[in-house]
Amino acid sequence: MNRRQFLASVSATAVLPLPSFAGVTPLKLKAETVSQQILPQGEGTTAMLGFNGSMPGPEIRLRRGARASIEVKNAMQEGTAVHWHGIRLENRMDGVPVLTQDLIDPYDSKTYSFVPPDAGTYWYHSHYISQEQVARGLMGPLIVEDDAPLDLDHDITVILSDWIINEDGSLVDEFTDMHSVAHAGYMGNFARGFLSRSEVKQGDRIRLRLINAATNRIFPLSISGVSGSVVALDGMALRQPRAFSDLVLAPAQRADLIVDVTGPVGFDMPTRQAPYRLAELSISGENTDRQSGPLPTLAAPDLPAPGAPSQHLTLTMMGGAMGGRHGGANIWSFNDVSDLPQDPFAIIERGETVRITLVNDTAFPHGIHLHGHHFYEVAPDGSIGDLRDTTLVAAGESRDVLCVFDNPGRWLIHCHMLSHAIGGMRTWVEVA
Ligand code: C2O
Ligand code: CU
Repeated sequence: MNRRQFLASVSATAVLPLPSFAGVTPLKLKAETVSQQILPQGEGTTAMLGFNGSMPGPEIRLRRGARASIEVKNAMQEGTAVHWHGIRLENRMDGVPVLTQDLIDPYDSKTYSFVPPDAGTYWYHSHYISQEQVARGLMGPLIVEDDAPLDLDHDITVILSDWIINEDGSLVDEFTDMHSVAHAGYMGNFARGFLSRSEVKQGDRIRLRLINAATNRIFPLSISGVSGSVVALDGMALRQPRAFSDLVLAPAQRADLIVDVTGPVGFDMPTRQAPYRLAELSISGENTDRQSGPLPTLAAPDLPAPGAPSQHLTLTMMGGAMGGRHGGANIWSFNDVSDLPQDPFAIIERGETVRITLVNDTAFPHGIHLHGHHFYEVAPDGSIGDLRDTTLVAAGESRDVLCVFDNPGRWLIHCHMLSHAIGGMRTWVEVA
């Protein structure tokens, strides 16, 4: 069998729970090699990287506004650094080698300490040779809890990823294969979701926190067995809940749903053939106490409102296979510059609102991520859209975003298709 073909999806009996974190302070994350049953039970295990013996790493839950300390111990034979994706934190805790910190050397450790300002769904992942370390498994969910708990029966995390796996379970280490880097990136032949819980009752009211931790795959999602709506994207509550029928998650994006359970819950990726099952929640009994009132709503995010933009920048994604325009040494670039330039792409005064036009002049979609901030997507008619930390721009299209740069420091902007990031689609801004 050609390993590029999709392997069979999750069987109905294969439950793969996501470990939770014992609530100790400081939280300790040990990056190490792990062996994980990714393929269905009974098939081979996969040698990977993980935290505290598991892949994905344990779910970290923090309180909004309270300082968190997380000690990362590196028990691997290579360096690493951990990025707390989507958290508007202090720059020196952002986990980006060279730009914000030195590598955590093998057998060394580093304590990250920050105050998460926004409740919501985030994640953590390696930010060192990340197209490889994240693909090998150095990632996990990071939840910042609401100030007041919502009236729900369960709060369930679903973290999605994909890998190239041989039939015996071994991981194919083609993380820097130049052909895939120049195209859509390292793309698994096996995908699945890890859930923090495996069962619900018919009639339960639940929150689903979906996280796309894949290095390059965009997941279109169809979710069955529930009725309700999307209430947050990239951690930030939406102004209006929204239907989830056309939910698409680019790498690193998150979506929160609040739904009532109407039957067995399935998470499927539509494909040209049959839908591919990523995860499921089975039904055990019926919830007869639940009053079917209106779905609870999330508190609105507390971010500065954008002012009149004082700069209008353009970042043009260039390069890649199939006629991309870029002549540099690396395959991908922003504005014809590959990799981190010595000088920032822009210097921004703290508090400035900046409009950035993201132009995709390539044959592939890109999910562009800004560190340390969230930004507003601007609709073609000029209206202000969703708050995001990663925005998906289709091939040949462009999108404007508006950002209040109120967080001082050196912040990365890169494609979160991690093969494209390593291929050069990275730059940075300085907020002074
Ligand atoms: Cu999710 Cu630069 O990272
Ligand atoms: Cu990209």
